[in-house]
Amino acid sequence: MKVVVIGTGYVGLVTGACLSEYGLSVTCVDLDSDKISRLRKNEMPIYEPGLKEIVEKNQKAGRLSFEVNGERSISEADVVFLAVGTPPLPDGSADMKYVYEAVRTFSRNHRSYQVLVTKSTVPVGTGARLEEIMMENHSGDTFAVASNPEFLREGCAVADFMNPDRIVIGCNDPKGLKVLLDLYEPMRKANAPILVTDRASSELIKYASNAFLSVKISFVNELSRLAEKVGADIASVAQGMGMDKRIGPAFLLPGPGYGGSCFPKDTKALLDTSRAFGSPLRLVDAAEQANREQVEFAAGKVLAAAGGEKKTAALLGLAFKGGTDDVRESPALKIAEILMSKGIAVKAYDPEASANALREVPGLDVVGSAAEAAKDADMLVIATEWNEFKTLDLPRLKEIMKSPVIIDLRNLLDPNHCRELGFAYTGIGRA
Ligand code: UGA
Repeated sequence: MKVVVIGTGYVGLVTGACLSEYGLSVTCVDLDSDKISRLRKNEMPIYEPGLKEIVEKNQKAGRLSFEVNGERSISEADVVFLAVGTPPLPDGSADMKYVYEAVRTFSRNHRSYQVLVTKSTVPVGTGARLEEIMMENHSGDTFAVASNPEFLREGCAVADFMNPDRIVIGCNDPKGLKVLLDLYEPMRKANAPILVTDRASSELIKYASNAFLSVKISFVNELSRLAEKVGADIASVAQGMGMDKRIGPAFLLPGPGYGGSCFPKDTKALLDTSRAFGSPLRLVDAAEQANREQVEFAAGKVLAAAGGEKKTAALLGLAFKGGTDDVRESPALKIAEILMSKGIAVKAYDPEASANALREVPGLDVVGSAAEAAKDADMLVIATEWNEFKTLDLPRLKEIMKSPVIIDLRNLLDPNHCRELGFAYTGIGRA
C-alpha cells in the first residue's frame, strides 16, 4: 500500500515515519523545501526522542521518502493523510487555509480510487466540506474522505504512535473503511484497539479528548489554590482522587497552566464550534479561563517572593512541558515575560528549547546550564517539568545563589529536603 502524508510537522512527520516502520511505503510532502532537504539528510526539524533513528532506518530501506510538492506520489497513493497545521485565528476558530490548499492539491492529482484522511485536528464537519470540494471535479465513487485523528503527545510522540490507547477511524464509506483497516492491520495485530465510527463523531472525539484533559488540568490547578488556603497538600489530594479507577491518576499534576500547540488552540476551536451551533460547553469555557488565570497565579508567586524589589530570577525551563523543544503557548515563556515586565531580571535555562524561546522573546537572557542561571540569583524558579530538574545539585546551587529561595511551579522537588538544605521553598498547592 502506498501512503502520502501532506505536512511534516509533529503529527505528519511522526505518522509518516511510524507507518514506514510498519512496512508501508510512505512519501512525506511539505512545501518547505529547506525542511525537506534537511529531512533527506536525516536532520530532524524538531526534537523528538527516537524519531531520527526511524527516519534514518526507513529512508535507508527505501520505504520512506521526502518530496517538496509530491504531485506524482499523491496521484499514485492509495491513502493520502492531511497533516497540515490548523492554527488559531484571532477569534479562536481554526484556520483551515492549509487544509483547503492541501485538498486542492489532492484534487488536482486524484486518479483512481483513493482515501483522503484528515490526521490534523479539524473542526466537526470538515470531512463533509472536503467531500464537497472533491465532488466539484470528481465522482463520489472514486474517493472517500475519512477522519483519523492523532492522539500522540510531543516528547513521546513515537512511542505514543506505536502503542496507541486507540486508533479512531471515522469513515462513512465502506470501501474507504476497508482500505484504512488494511493499512492499520499490522498495528491491530500488535494489539492497538481500533474504534470505527462515523466521520463527525471521529472529528469530535479528538476535540472532546483534548478538552476533557484541559478540564482535568484546570480542575486540579484551581483545586491546588484551594488546597493552599485550607492547608491541604494537592499531591496527596490528587493521589487520593486518582486511586478511584473512574477518575484515574493521569493529568492531575498542578502547574503554571497547560500550554503547547494543542490544548489552548483546541479548547478555543471547540468553544467556537459550540457557539456556532448554539450548544454551550460551560466546563470547557471555565477551564480556558482558569488556565489564563493560572499562569498569572504562578508568576504571582515569584513576584511575591521578590517583594517588590528588582531581584534576579533563575528560570529553569522554557518549553511548554518537559521532553520537547516546543515553546508554543508555553507558560514558562509567559512567566518570563510577566517577570521582565515587572523589572525582575530573568536568567533562563532549558535543555532543548533555548533557540525557539529566543525566537519568541529575543531579549531573553538564556544561559547554558541550571548552575549558570542560578549563579548570583535571588531565587530559583522551576517552570517546566524536565526530568533533569528533579535531580538538581541543590547544595551546590545554594552555594552560588545570592539567596536560597526556590519557587517550584511544577512540584518537582521534595519540600522537606529543600528546607533541610536551608532553602525557603514554595510549591503549588502545598505548604
Ligand atoms: C496533547 C494531548 O495529550 C495528546 O493526546 C494530543 O494528541 C496532542 O495534545 C495534540 O492534540 O496533538 P501535548 O500538547 O503534546 O499533547 O502535551 P501534553 O502532554 O498533553 O501536555 C499539555 C500541557 O498540559 C503541558 O503544558 C503540560 O505541562 C500540561 N499538563 C499536563 C499539566 O499541567 N498537568 C498535567 O497533569 C498534565
